[in-house]
Amino acid sequence: MRLSASELSRFGEDLGAQLRAPAVIGLSGELGTGKTTLVQAICRGLGAKARATSPTYALVHHYDTGSVPVYHVDCYRLRHPNEARDLGFDDMLRERAIILIEWPERAGPWAPPLDRHLHLSYDDDPERRVVEATAGV
Ligand SMILES: Nc1ncnc2c1ncn2[C@@H]1O[C@H](COP(=O)(O)OP(=O)(O)OP(=O)(O)O)[C@@H](O)[C@H]1O
Ligand SMILES: [Mg+2]
Repeated sequence: MRLSASELSRFGEDLGAQLRAPAVIGLSGELGTGKTTLVQAICRGLGAKARATSPTYALVHHYDTGSVPVYHVDCYRLRHPNEARDLGFDDMLRERAIILIEWPERAGPWAPPLDRHLHLSYDDDPERRVVEATAGV
């Protein structure tokens, strides 16, 4: 798919509205391709309200939806996959949460299995992004 910013937002909102917990979604792609934009749209679709950053793990954001817990984990700044060991993925899985992971490849073996993996890349048109989805890893 080649999506404009508004189409990407719509895609994320629709995906969020359809997601059923537990679910693990990976988002990969170069800097500035729209991963965070897409995460925020998915959270809107999930009905997520307040965002709270974990005081211990600045890479983990928790959103309250009133029902299922939603976590957004950005692995970009991990210097080594082993740093992902303590991000709390086990607890999130135990909670049957919805887990959105930017740069899951940087967490190496510590990333939980992905139910879907979205890859974003630049298009020739600077206002569009190419979005490709795979059904897991
Ligand atoms: N079709 C598009 N889809 C998404 N973003 C777009 C699109 N066209 C332009 N943009 C712009 O690209 C930028 C995407 O930024 P965003 O922070 O979402 O990317 P990112 O992949 O999370 O980057 P980073 O890896 O630096 O965290 C925004 O400034 C947005 O306005
Ligand atoms: Mg980002």
